[in-house]
Amino acid sequence: VDTITSIAEMRDRARALRAEGRRVGFVPTMGYLHEGHLSLVRTAAERSDVVVVSVFVNPTQFGPSEDFDRYPRNLDRDSALLSGAGCDILFAPTPEEMYPARYATVVHVQRLSEKLCGAFRPGHFDGVSTIVAKLFEIVRPTLAVFGQKDAQQAAIIERMVTDLNMDVEIVRAPTVREPDGLAMSSRNSYLTDGERRDASVLHRALERGRTLYEEGERDAAKVLDEMRALIESRPAAEIQYVAAVDSRTLDDVEVLGRGTMLALAVFFGSTRLIDNVVLGAGGSTADASRSEV
Ligand code: PAF
Repeated sequence: VDTITSIAEMRDRARALRAEGRRVGFVPTMGYLHEGHLSLVRTAAERSDVVVVSVFVNPTQFGPSEDFDRYPRNLDRDSALLSGAGCDILFAPTPEEMYPARYATVVHVQRLSEKLCGAFRPGHFDGVSTIVAKLFEIVRPTLAVFGQKDAQQAAIIERMVTDLNMDVEIVRAPTVREPDGLAMSSRNSYLTDGERRDASVLHRALERGRTLYEEGERDAAKVLDEMRALIESRPAAEIQYVAAVDSRTLDDVEVLGRGTMLALAVFFGSTRLIDNVVLGAGGSTADASRSEV
């Protein structure tokens, strides 16, 4: 892959690609890539002529006591993985260029940013929507691919693109899972062996919720109670939230239905993991398992 670190150079390339009428597919990431990211890259490659992947650990989406400093980074490894996955350009800007002195602008998506993870990570989604808006402006993609694992992030970006009339198509790609069901995440690398074993309970809890729904249970409180009990049976797990929400508005629902998202955030030691499933979305085939990609 071609690595570009300067904003001016990326803009020049983007301008030239547009002028040539090429479809640019974009995958924004924070690096330390895994199979989940690579599946997003492949999705972008299938739908475009040129694929740009950004690697930028965005400081503004981390809270003061969060893991910005210890977030895993390895650009050489990322570059090697991207070469094999259909990526053409790796854009890796510096924080100094992305947020120079006197930087002052924030993109805030109301309501959606306050729910679920937003209630526990104040300012997080402002950091995400702002950096994604900046990256869209620099890369000028035809389409951009986001993972369903970060469903709230995807919903916020879709809202932002609609509200600000941004000329980019947002594509959601299914969650990629380890063989035991754990959703792939760069943060899985923090888990101790014991925490890693316990973390597989998240997918089991979500699937338990889905099964109860498919068996006819519609009472969200009952389903969430069962999911919580299952998660709490693992010694390392500490629940932040387990919720049933409308997957479009992210509002809590009392009655489960097609399109309800079961979503959770759970700590294993100091590592916070999130995951979700959408009910009535074709069962577990809505998730891509590692063996399928
Ligand atoms: O999902 C991520 O990795 C980040 O939130 C994103 C979209 C790259 C913005 O920094």
